[in-house]
Amino acid sequence: MAPATASNEPIRVLITGAAGQIAYSLIPLIAKGEVFGQKQEIILHLLDIQPMLGVLNGVAMEISDCAFPLLRDVVATADVAAAFKGISYAFLVGAMPRREGMERKDLLKANVRIFKDQGGALDQFAKKDVKVLVVGNPANTNALICSKYAPSIPKENITAMTRLDQNRATAQVAQHVQARIQDVRKVIIWGNHSNTQFPDARFVEVQKDGSWTSISKVQHDEKWLKESLIPLVQKRGAEVIAARKLSSAMSAAQAAADHMRNWFNGTEKDQWVNMAVVSKGEYGIPEGLVFSFPVTVENGQWKIVPNLAIDDFSKEKLKITTTELEEERTEAHAACE
Ligand code: NAD
Ligand code: LMR
Repeated sequence: MAPATASNEPIRVLITGAAGQIAYSLIPLIAKGEVFGQKQEIILHLLDIQPMLGVLNGVAMEISDCAFPLLRDVVATADVAAAFKGISYAFLVGAMPRREGMERKDLLKANVRIFKDQGGALDQFAKKDVKVLVVGNPANTNALICSKYAPSIPKENITAMTRLDQNRATAQVAQHVQARIQDVRKVIIWGNHSNTQFPDARFVEVQKDGSWTSISKVQHDEKWLKESLIPLVQKRGAEVIAARKLSSAMSAAQAAADHMRNWFNGTEKDQWVNMAVVSKGEYGIPEGLVFSFPVTVENGQWKIVPNLAIDDFSKEKLKITTTELEEERTEAHAACE
């Protein structure tokens, strides 16, 4: 698949929350060419808040010490205009993480105004075809607000991250059917990046002896897929927090890199990835919600996988996560007034 941008000019890539823990794992992935390829030079824009500038300068020193060949320049700043100026890609990570006992939506009041302001900055300073990945939680609703305040940026260009949920579910399913990760495809994550999300394994395909077959044809436990896999993925973030006393960072950075790499490079034939994207009413999801769907990507444009059967069990799951996103949207609009 040809990359969406085949230019030799360096591209400007913004990471917000650049002094934080996800950024610390994400920066080397981008700088080493694992997102935009081994031929694409990068100018990294790193934004954090004023009190974190000392830490950010330390990160910038380490970046210099890595001597990344693809890295043309680094702009490390607390100035929003300088950070968003001329960017083609944005990883909006900077936001408060949850602590043990919280739900991600408890972060809404603390974080949503960041995304209102950064929507405004995208509108004012970024390239008009900028592609944005919102990582900061609650990611779907933050993306919705960001898009509202960036009216000159196409709504399709502002997405939120559910790739971590996809990666979690894929790893669990691979273990369950005793296959390698690369031999499992078409895991779906529907809805919100929260504990109402619906990890759906009904369309999973497994590669055995060189050919792909439906999960229904390989040895598996249907009850496990419904009763264990779904809550496991829904609660995995909380489980990591309970163990690490910090929210996931290495896996979040890997997922952010995976999301953007597929958006930039496209998806392979018969491969689906999950992105939270603006709904135009697909699968009965209300227009305007930022909802995780299975997508394919070609020439830098994502397309929701059409015509998947939605049975009664799935319908109920989609309803629960939709209702939560509608409630978050109402709360977010109120918090931004
Ligand atoms: P962290 O606390 O280590 O880092 C966050 C950084 O953001 C801090 O350096 C902070 O100063 C900075 N920041 C705060 N406000 C900012 C602003 N207005 N502009 C720029 N920077 C700002 O947190 P982290 O572990 O890196 O997590 C960041 C966010 O990502 C959290 O909201 C977390 O819940 C979320 N997250 C999402 C996913 C996902 O799958 N969508 C996965 C993991 C974490
Ligand atoms: C995750 O899924 O690990 C992140 O959203 C962090 C969290 O709060 O769970």
